[in-house]
Amino acid sequence: MADNCNLVSILGVLLILTIFHNPIIVNAGEGVPNVALFTFGDSYYDAGNKVYLSKDKNPPQVNWPYGKSRDDPNGKFSDGHIIPDFIAEFMAIPNGVPPALKPDANVTRGVSFAVTDASILGSPVESMTLSQQVAKFESIISNWTSDYIKRSLFMIYIGTEDYLNYIQKHPDADATKQQAFVTSVITQLNTDIKSLTNLGARKFVVQLLAPLGCLPIVRQDYKTGNDCYELLNDLAKQHNEKIGPMLNDFANSPAIDGFQFTVFDFYDAIIRRTQRSLNYRFYVSNASCCGVGTHNAYGCGKLNVHSKLCDYQRSYLFFDGRHNSEKAQEEMANLLYAADPNVIQPLTVRELIVYPNGEKMREFWVPNKFSARRRLPSQDSYARFSAY
Ligand SMILES: *[C@@H]1O[C@H](CO)[C@@H](O)[C@H](O)[C@H]1NC(C)=O
Ligand SMILES: *[C@@H]1O[C@H](CO)[C@@H](O)[C@H](O)[C@H]1NC(C)=O
Ligand SMILES: *[C@@H]1O[C@H](CO)[C@@H](O)[C@H](O)[C@H]1NC(C)=O
Repeated sequence: MADNCNLVSILGVLLILTIFHNPIIVNAGEGVPNVALFTFGDSYYDAGNKVYLSKDKNPPQVNWPYGKSRDDPNGKFSDGHIIPDFIAEFMAIPNGVPPALKPDANVTRGVSFAVTDASILGSPVESMTLSQQVAKFESIISNWTSDYIKRSLFMIYIGTEDYLNYIQKHPDADATKQQAFVTSVITQLNTDIKSLTNLGARKFVVQLLAPLGCLPIVRQDYKTGNDCYELLNDLAKQHNEKIGPMLNDFANSPAIDGFQFTVFDFYDAIIRRTQRSLNYRFYVSNASCCGVGTHNAYGCGKLNVHSKLCDYQRSYLFFDGRHNSEKAQEEMANLLYAADPNVIQPLTVRELIVYPNGEKMREFWVPNKFSARRRLPSQDSYARFSAY
């Protein structure tokens, strides 16, 4: 009997903890000022730009089953919305942010400069580097006042293409060469962010790279079976570790007045869902819903490929070989907007939006001591109850 009482009270406490800890309750637009959302990066944030640069008249992302969950393939690599769509919704931006390359787009509340296949370095085919995206922003900047730009949000997710290409071309690069490559990528990223600040941008959200070695297409191409390709995970980690300190430096730089930022630990969020997928109600995290091959990772949406399509995309962490399902993207957006410091720090996106302009940051990015990749086995009980 005593045992039962204990159990009941423990369950009660857990229930209360869960209710108050659960970040998934967000009310769209509540108390959020009228500001714009600008997105930069690759296919994860591409709102449809690639369609305008592609020679292929029928690129995969305009074909079913893309958009399946909303019955609308619209040039995005998802079965429905992508992360920026949800963020735009939380910011009460009607109809989301349109692709910058779409003629006559209504750019009042922001626009997406992100293009599929974009990289930080090099000259990607039928795509744009981050610096070209920044140049595009500059070319249409008179759509907004400088005060509005200063108050608006700049979201960046880019780098996957750089590291996948690098490892494909240099599979035997030693540690020194890898480090040098990471440094060159980060140096260019730093230059591009600085260019954005020169154009008046002050509020930045940087999403860290996913564990690239766990993408179904990487597992399939490198034949790692049920394992992730650690070489690529390691490069992503090396890259990610440099982002927070770089942004701390910007925020502390006397040359840039009022630089504000936050960093989303996407790596950690995906690793948790890969290692403990059932905790998050993903039944498959090692293969994609749509595609062909050992991990169903290739060719989703390609007209000449006979792709397999899963029965229920919401039980998959990945919709295609590289991109998350809409369900996962919605979770990520909620984490970005309102989650705890283990995944987004030093501010949530909501806090960043309302943080007074020109104000110096009072908290900075610190290495995450609770992140999944550094947790010791003895601390494992902590993880079992985390809601993020
Ligand atoms: C463009 O969007 C803004 C805000 O979302 C809206 O107020 C405006 O009426 C739109 N303009 C046109 C021409 O549709
Ligand atoms: C505003 O943005 C649109 C869409 O990209 C572009 O076509 C237009 O030239 C821009 N206007 C100005 C004044 O920059
Ligand atoms: C994915 O994981 C499941 C369950 O652990 C396993 O049965 C399956 O073989 C794995 N798939 C691949 C392609 O490794």
